[in-house]
Amino acid sequence: MICLVLSGSTIEENISQFKRNREYVDLVEFRIDLLDESSRGLASKFPDMVDLPVILTCRRQSDGGKYVGSEKSRGALLESCLDGNFAYVDIEDDIKRSAAELKARERKIRIIRSRHDFTGMPSDIFHRISKIAAKGDIPKMAVTPQSVLDLITLFRVKTELADVGEKIVLGMGDFGFPSRILYKRVGSMLTYCADTPVAPGQISAQKMKELYRADTVDDRTHIFGVIGNPVLHSFSPEIQNPGFKGINFNAIYVPFHVDSVRSFFILAEMIKISGVSVTVPHKQNVLPYLGKITREVKQIGSCNTVVRAKNLWMGTNTDYYGFVDPLLVDIDNKTIQSALVVGAGGAARSVVWALRNHGCKVTIVNRNVDRARSLALETMAAFDSLDNAKHYEHVDLIVQTTSVGMIPDSESDPIPDFNFTKDQTVYELVYRPKYTKMLDRARKSGCKLLFGIDMLIRQGKLQFESFTGYHYPKRLEQTLHLEED
Ligand code: ATR
Repeated sequence: MICLVLSGSTIEENISQFKRNREYVDLVEFRIDLLDESSRGLASKFPDMVDLPVILTCRRQSDGGKYVGSEKSRGALLESCLDGNFAYVDIEDDIKRSAAELKARERKIRIIRSRHDFTGMPSDIFHRISKIAAKGDIPKMAVTPQSVLDLITLFRVKTELADVGEKIVLGMGDFGFPSRILYKRVGSMLTYCADTPVAPGQISAQKMKELYRADTVDDRTHIFGVIGNPVLHSFSPEIQNPGFKGINFNAIYVPFHVDSVRSFFILAEMIKISGVSVTVPHKQNVLPYLGKITREVKQIGSCNTVVRAKNLWMGTNTDYYGFVDPLLVDIDNKTIQSALVVGAGGAARSVVWALRNHGCKVTIVNRNVDRARSLALETMAAFDSLDNAKHYEHVDLIVQTTSVGMIPDSESDPIPDFNFTKDQTVYELVYRPKYTKMLDRARKSGCKLLFGIDMLIRQGKLQFESFTGYHYPKRLEQTLHLEED
């Protein structure tokens, strides 16, 4: 079930949040601690105003709530609200024998026994869950994994406690995020969503239902994902998930915040992950775990796509083709024969190798000249310092691979005194904003422009082919666009 946490301070606000999200959710949590004083008197009537089951919750501050009064008054408020037709009431695990508990039992309102940990995971999490379940209540563990190893423990709940039918288990924060989406694989009966997040890692109900289709995950669903650090703002889920839906492929694509690639591959074996995209800083870190790699991965020393192949992991690099594909016609007809590559970091490696493999003459300019020299030696390119970029104004193609110009640094230009001419092609890898300061100058000079967002989408489509064996659905391509920051 997908549960919407109502975060309004009035009944009206909550009703409008409910109406906005009705089609995406199966039940709602009514948080009376977030209500203003005057609305609390009407709280018991709330379940009759909506046509879904309601969880009643009054969260104290130590558990991330907003209730400020004494524990006695919190208990009294909860008890008085239980006159209403709530389906569930959330009572913290350490509150013993309260009047609210007695009333809930009398009125046959199911009790959710919750425990929140905003800094880590209780070491006896399995024991705690079983103990609560033994009393007939629904255990709820909202914990904060601090590593992929902690996340592995959460994913073990499903098998270790298979006999506990009803339980709520979720990991908050970056490491916990996959457990919110893959809640069924954690063995949780529900996942929480909210219009305005009231706990770390919550997303909107619409995203949960329409983008991730989290409630459709079953035993046969293939799990894919993207690993990185940070990773939660990755655009890749917005490419892959709609693609899976478009070809009716029973699969889900989830961001995994990864501290240790080694731990991640343990998790991947455990929950049978079928493939992942790899982003910064793990494109080199995954190499030791790959049983098979393509020529490009070997050359570049960087892998952005990993798929399960029989008994091993196979690594490819779709950044390479995502970058070079739109240049091939101009390279073939010799319109592009020489290039200036700005930057010598990870992204530049794929770019320089792709250009060199296609016979282009390349000069690398970088702030740190040693880095430019080292990449140039490896790829048989030329190099110079970034300050000398303007000496290369005669090239056919300029590729910008540094982070200079990216939001929030959008006023910066890595090569401010470089004069573009109209016959040149200018390829900007930064995609936020779409028109960087440098690209805007190139546009004004009449250059042919190539955008980072299109490269991102091309490499994503190639990943989709590796993951599914099918082409990305054509009709979906127009719908791929970034939300502007
Ligand atoms: P990526 O994988 O995105 O390429 P990276 O490997 O950290 O990231 O490389 C960042 C690139 O941006 C490098 O070329 C870096 O130049 P240095 O090697 O001199 O550090 C470049 N870069 C980052 N910030 C820069 C700045 N303020 N001015 C100029 N170049 C910058």
